[in-house]
Order: sequence, then structure tokens, then C-alpha cells
Amino acid sequence: MRIGIPRQTAPGERRVALTPDAARRLVDTGHVVTVEADAGRRAGFVDEEYTEAGAEIVASQEAWSAEFVATVGLEDTLPDIGPETVLLGLLRPFDEPERMRRLAETGATVFAFEAVPRTTRAQTVDALSSQATAAGYQAALEGAAATDRFLPMLTTAAGTIPPARVLVLGAGVAGLQAIATARRLGAIVAAFDVRAAAAEQVESLGASFIDLDVERQDETKTGGYAREVAEDTQRRIMDGLAPHVAEADVVVTTAAIPGRPAPRLISREMVEAMRTGSVIVDLAATTGGNCELTVPGETVDHRGVTIIGDTDLVSRVAHDASRMLARNVTAFIGLISDDGALRLDFDDDIVAQACIARGGRLVHPRLTQET
Ligand code: NAI
Repeated sequence: MRIGIPRQTAPGERRVALTPDAARRLVDTGHVVTVEADAGRRAGFVDEEYTEAGAEIVASQEAWSAEFVATVGLEDTLPDIGPETVLLGLLRPFDEPERMRRLAETGATVFAFEAVPRTTRAQTVDALSSQATAAGYQAALEGAAATDRFLPMLTTAAGTIPPARVLVLGAGVAGLQAIATARRLGAIVAAFDVRAAAAEQVESLGASFIDLDVERQDETKTGGYAREVAEDTQRRIMDGLAPHVAEADVVVTTAAIPGRPAPRLISREMVEAMRTGSVIVDLAATTGGNCELTVPGETVDHRGVTIIGDTDLVSRVAHDASRMLARNVTAFIGLISDDGALRLDFDDDIVAQACIARGGRLVHPRLTQET
């Protein structure tokens, strides 16, 4: 199978969908790997490493015209692909259904990582989890760097400084990694989530779970995801969180509902009750933000509280995030090829569910129902 790896040109995007190591493994199993010149450079992988791994360095158009193309994301202008192309990437299908419709019109067979089922067998293909891990890690570090406090308790000749308090809202993959990272840095960590399973996971990382008087969701019924909560529940959650937000030095918010705007968890008043010098890192900025004052793509100062809405956190750890993504891409290629040749098997539940468009039409039920 001829595999194409285009260079990402979206602003702030530094990741690449395949690393030289992963390219080598694919070449060894009979694939032809073509990589656009400089595709890996911003993630710390240079063209020579790909060449040494047996890949060919090609121009953009050639990478996009491969039989199978793996991309991190999509640019504003949709790629020039046709019915012969099989495309895989983090395409945000449920956030941008109209774009998916236009992508479907190319006739390409389109797979989105966002549609991969969250099953045990699909874990190696689960790029949402791998990239959320990177985002959660980086969010904790950004918070630690932006606050004017130490995270650990420091006992020195100049006195004892108590540890900082970190609050994590949304304890999914990113939130749990933010908790683990903040704990490693020595902070006192508390967290909240609407999913019932989250409490135990939070506590197993040495953080405390904030138990608000709201119904906890059983996510085994919703494919691993949370559901949107009713407005009055949302209000009760915010009221319950208010004192915890006020006493936090760093708040990392990650709460999300796939395909929906991010739930609002922190209001302007809650920000104004925080101590000057404290920080909010809002990982939900791309879908509207968990904090009312978040500006997507920007860091703002509101009365001394820093609100980080930067949307390129994963790209700040582009090298390792790309390594993880490349493992996900390689695992997916394993599902759709045999002996180095493309063999699409729609009886495989991962392949079938990850498919967004085929034969000129959208095929994913979540997108066809909305049509
Ligand atoms: P996500 O990125 O969609 O959401 C992040 C978190 O926000 C979730 O934990 C969600 O419960 C929480 N959230 C939503 N609304 C909220 C609200 N109003 N208040 C507070 N929190 C709210 O979810 P993510 O991180 O992609 O995955 C969530 C869960 O899915 C995981 O923790 C896990 O249980 C499951 N999962 C299962 C996998 C598997 O079995 N292979 C792989 C990955 C995830």
C-alpha cells in the first residue's frame, strides 16, 4: 500500500502523523511510505531520518495522492483527494459536520479517529486518548509555569512553603493525566467529573474527588462518554464547585461532550473570587471553553487571574505526541491492510465504526442522522 504523510500547515500545528521509526516498521511489512518534505521537522524528525527508514521524501501533492493518507488534522481548504483515496486523521467530524459533508463529496473513504469505538481491542488505535494524554500533561505544566506559587511543599532555611492546590474539572483521559502530573509535582489535587467511574480513578492517583450532590452518570451506556447535563444540574455543579475554584492556585479544565459545546463550569464571578496570581488552563477552549472568560487561542489576564485558552498545547510536546499518534496510525494500518496491500474489511467493528464517508456519502450514523 502506498502511504502518504502530508506536512501539517495549520497554524500552531507541529505534529506529524508518522515518525521515522513507525515508517521503518511499515516499510518492513511491505508498504511504500511517502513523506512530504519537512513534514516531521517541527516535531523534531528530519527528512534524513525518514529516508534512512526507507521512506521517500516527496512534494505535497504526491503525499496527498497516495492510496492511503494519514494526516493529523485538516486545513481550512480541503485536500485535493478523490475516490481512490483512503484518508485517516483527527478530522473533528462531529464538531464540523458540514466540512465532513464536503469531504464525503470527494468520494474518498474517510476514517476519523474520533469515531473509533472505545473498546479494549481499539485501544492501540485510540488517538483521542493518546493526544488527550499529551494535552493533560502539558496543561498541568502550563499551569505550574504560569502560577506564582511552587507546586510542592518546600521546607527550606527560608521557611516552609505549603504545597499549591490544583483543581481538575473533567477527569477523563486528559484530566487524569493532568492530575497525575500535578501530583508528581507535589501539589494537593482535587477533581470533579459527572461520570460515576471517575471518582475511583481520581482517588487512585492520590487526588480527592469532589462529591457534589448531582446524579453520577454511568458512561458504560454512552460509549465511554458523558452526557450533557440539564441546566439546573449545571447550575448546581457550578455552585458546588465555586468554593473549590476560589481556593485553587491552578485550575485545569477538560470537561467535554463530543460534538457539543463544552459545558460551562466556571463563571466570571467564580474567576473574580480567585486569588490574584492563580491560573486557569482551559483545555476545552476549542469547543467554547469551560470558563466563561476563556478566549480560544489566547492567554488573558482577568484581574490578576491568568486564563490560558491556548489551543496548541499538544503541539508543545509534538515529538512525543507524534510518537503516540504514529502508533495509533500504524495500528489502524494493520487493520486495513494485509501483506502490504490495502484490504478494507468493514466486518471489523473498528474499521466499520471509524468510517465517516464512503462512496461519495456520509456513512457514520451520527452524521447521517443530523442530515
Ligand atoms: P472527553 O474528552 O469527552 O471528556 C472529558 C471529561 O469531561 C470526561 O471525563 C467527561 O465525563 C467530563 N465531563 C463532561 N461533562 C462534564 C461536566 N458537566 N462536569 C464535569 N465533567 C464533565 O472524554 P475522554 O477523556 O475522551 O474519555 C472519557 C472516558 O471514556 C474515560 O475516562 C474512560 O472512562 C472512557 N474511555 C475508555 C476507553 C476504552 O475503554 N478503550 C478509552 C478512552 C476512554
